[in-house]
Amino acid sequence: MKLAILGSGFIARFYADALVGHRRKDEIVTVYSRTLANAKKFADDYKVPNYTDSIEECVSHKDVDAVIIALSNDMHLVSTIASANAGKHVLCTKPLGRNAQEAYEMLKAVEKANVTGGYLEDLVYSPKALKSLKMIQEGAVGEIVWAKSRETHPGPHSDWFWDKEKSGGGAIIDLGCHCVEICRNYIGKNIKPVEVMCWADTRVHPIDAEDNAVGWVKYENGAIGQFEVSWSFRGGMDLREEVMGTEGTIWTNNFLRTGFEMFTSGKGGDYIAEKAESNSGWLFPVGDEVNDLGYNHMFTDMFDSIDNNKQPMENFYDGYVVNAILDAAFASAKSKKWEPVQIDDWRGVAQVKKEKQMTSYDDDYYLIKEEVLPNGEKKFIIKNKKTGSIEKR
Ligand SMILES: NC(=O)c1ccc[n+]([C@@H]2O[C@H](COP(=O)([O-])OP(=O)(O)OC[C@H]3O[C@@H](n4cnc5c(N)ncnc54)[C@H](O)[C@@H]3O)[C@@H](O)[C@H]2O)c1
Repeated sequence: MKLAILGSGFIARFYADALVGHRRKDEIVTVYSRTLANAKKFADDYKVPNYTDSIEECVSHKDVDAVIIALSNDMHLVSTIASANAGKHVLCTKPLGRNAQEAYEMLKAVEKANVTGGYLEDLVYSPKALKSLKMIQEGAVGEIVWAKSRETHPGPHSDWFWDKEKSGGGAIIDLGCHCVEICRNYIGKNIKPVEVMCWADTRVHPIDAEDNAVGWVKYENGAIGQFEVSWSFRGGMDLREEVMGTEGTIWTNNFLRTGFEMFTSGKGGDYIAEKAESNSGWLFPVGDEVNDLGYNHMFTDMFDSIDNNKQPMENFYDGYVVNAILDAAFASAKSKKWEPVQIDDWRGVAQVKKEKQMTSYDDDYYLIKEEVLPNGEKKFIIKNKKTGSIEKR
């Protein structure tokens, strides 16, 4: 695949590390940045043959098959339209839009141009997430009752994130988009998210947007996806998931507690891991951030999907649904009530029934719980199917 990258900042470099770091056959042909100096620096660092300070010139380069958008959130819509108009496949970083309306316009733009719209939600492509998803799809944890995803760190690295107009919001839009999509994958992307309850506040920083939030996304089958986000968490980046199903549980930890712990007096290099706040003392490096955060698997899926003319696992429709959920979260944080998720163009399962799992103990009773007590006794808690009375055996 021949690629153009729009942007030369933080995520553009992570993407380039994934793209050129492991002798991939894919190639970055050209890069755009607002200043030629930044574009040239990026081109030199990653051996990109062309660079420019014009988005139009970058996306319409004759050799380019797909454009990777790695720009601030306010630039996603315009650069998607420019890329789709140039007839190129579009791979856009998260969040897709600053709101569902922008995201829907982006979805429509790629559909109209008949090009692929890939949503670069790396965290569902991490090796741990991919393995968890496979186990869930095979039924290892049963039906998902509750899924929780937490992303908290001390706040982002560039000014535009902190400007609500440019970013579309604070920690909810920046980090909540990851959490919502991770939980949505675990619960089932075909299940409609119906309503959201969210608490959000600006607790620490002198900004208009929220720097802390917790929210619950209710799905049509009764499952709950919980997100916990913060721009004021101290101690690095906390990136964890918990899945609770009727047959099992999954806990994953992507940063801070990965099984890699190191003490140093601080005499080595400065960079330990993304958003690490210290480079001395006990530290929690990440073995291979590019791989462990899912970028390699993500681009493999994106390019394979383009080659085979099919939708990638994460596509613009997913980005649109995530934005719709986040819009409801903002509305709920304001109203302090459950707010409906507005998805006018729902493409998942039409209507899912909320079904309780009932296990029979015998013809007359349901089994509620069985347990072996410390004295070895096996105890059954059961419910009479006719009278509803709760008894023990
Ligand atoms: N894990 C992830 O998937 C992940 C991580 C970080 C950032 N991101 C996303 O990547 C995007 C960029 O974030 P970043 O961390 O690289 O930020 P950054 O500030 O490091 O880089 C932003 C890039 O956009 C350019 N830019 C900013 N405003 C512009 C404008 N008005 N016109 C043209 N170019 C402009 C900057 O020059 C820079 O090249 C954001 O949408 C962010 O949410 C995704």
